[in-house]
Amino acid sequence: MIRPIVDPSRPKVYIETYGCQMNVNDSEVILSILQDAGYALTENIEEADVILANTCSIRDNAEQRIWGRIDQFKIQKKKREGVVIGIVGCMAERLKDKLLTAVDLVAGPDSYRSLPSLLEAVAPGTPQINVLLSHEETYAEISPVRLDKNGVSAFISIMRGCNNVCSYCVVPYTRGAERSRDPETILREAQELFENGYKEITLLGQNVDSYRWESPKGNVSFAQLLEAVAKISPELRVRFSTSHPKDISDEVIYTMAMYENICKHIHLPVQSGSSIMLEKMRRKYNREWYLERVKKIRSVIPDCGLTTDVIAGFCGETEQDHKDTLTLMEEVVFDSAFMFAYSERPGTLASRKYPDDIPYETKTARLNEIIALQGRMSLKSNEKEIGKVQKVLVEGPSKKNPDELCGRASSNKMCVFPSRGEKAGDYCYVQVESVTSATLICKRID
Ligand code: 5AD
Ligand code: SF4
Repeated sequence: MIRPIVDPSRPKVYIETYGCQMNVNDSEVILSILQDAGYALTENIEEADVILANTCSIRDNAEQRIWGRIDQFKIQKKKREGVVIGIVGCMAERLKDKLLTAVDLVAGPDSYRSLPSLLEAVAPGTPQINVLLSHEETYAEISPVRLDKNGVSAFISIMRGCNNVCSYCVVPYTRGAERSRDPETILREAQELFENGYKEITLLGQNVDSYRWESPKGNVSFAQLLEAVAKISPELRVRFSTSHPKDISDEVIYTMAMYENICKHIHLPVQSGSSIMLEKMRRKYNREWYLERVKKIRSVIPDCGLTTDVIAGFCGETEQDHKDTLTLMEEVVFDSAFMFAYSERPGTLASRKYPDDIPYETKTARLNEIIALQGRMSLKSNEKEIGKVQKVLVEGPSKKNPDELCGRASSNKMCVFPSRGEKAGDYCYVQVESVTSATLICKRID
């Protein structure tokens, strides 16, 4: 397992990460490649020789933020000659040519192995670019530099890309076709993390349920991979993200139920409660299918944490479609949700086929209604936990009170409780006494 190298004699890389957990893990892969090539990490932009932003394109405001950051990076370039500014990740893939006029280096999600040679070739007036997408690249054997601060939780990417082509989504264009990573390398990485004191591993993919490895030694499904990781040790918690409602299988649900250390939490993005919208979004399921999956999950794992993503104001969304989203949220009672206003992304199917016709005010009003409802649902979902016992993995002292600890229950709900001097990575047993919409307030029972 690799940690950041601190070596003042090496050229220094500073990296900022935007977007999803997968990008966080990609930054760790990037640093691993650059450390091997003789660079060292710095957290201080003022001393960086190379400044990288690992970017996100999912919504327009994510991209707008980066343009602002580039202007600030350029201040460093003015202060110190020879500083290289690089944009990597999804936005690099999407806006290659435009970025090339603004920065020194542009590298897409599948070209991180070429970063050392690109950096070497950068010279004033000769920016470097590699945005080739690959059908094979999974960075399988690269051991990511672990950047987490507490040494307890780590991400492992199990696949890259996406084949779903949801009509609103830019990811298939920025991250390319779906490919799964060799399970042996995943298990080796998980084992190594556990041996180095890590207690929680999150398996990452755009659509983990379609993970599949085929080889003469036998095929491996996501459920089988999940089981193999869980078997490393009962002390090692396993999480995964993201599940797709059309693909999440009974096999995965039963595997979760069988192993105490597979956390009882599923992030199951619904996007909309209207079957008409879901059809236009090309999600390949409808409201009834989604509700049936939720019912199945809860019949097998009654206390399973459920979280979701919702998009407000997709093309042609009527008041009735919006109401369908609200009623679905009331019916399911998600623990929490990421909620967004629809943002048209150039090149996507929706941008070509459907006008972005919901006025900004309507989108915002609907989004606010969704956010307010989710606040009430989060509280309702937490209230059901009162009196229940939780096994919590300690993350550290609670932010508000140093005499208290915080950590997550198996369901991914945040708990706070009195400390007895435990540290990050210890397990505690607690009972929920009261709740807010964000936190379970607990007493010790161990
Ligand atoms: N506009 C708004 N939200 C989007 N998402 C993906 N694409 C868009 C878009 N064009 C949301 C979805 C997805 C989450 C990662 O981001 O809800 O699940
Ligand atoms: Fe992650 Fe999607 Fe953003 Fe790319 S566009 S960084 S895959 S959230």
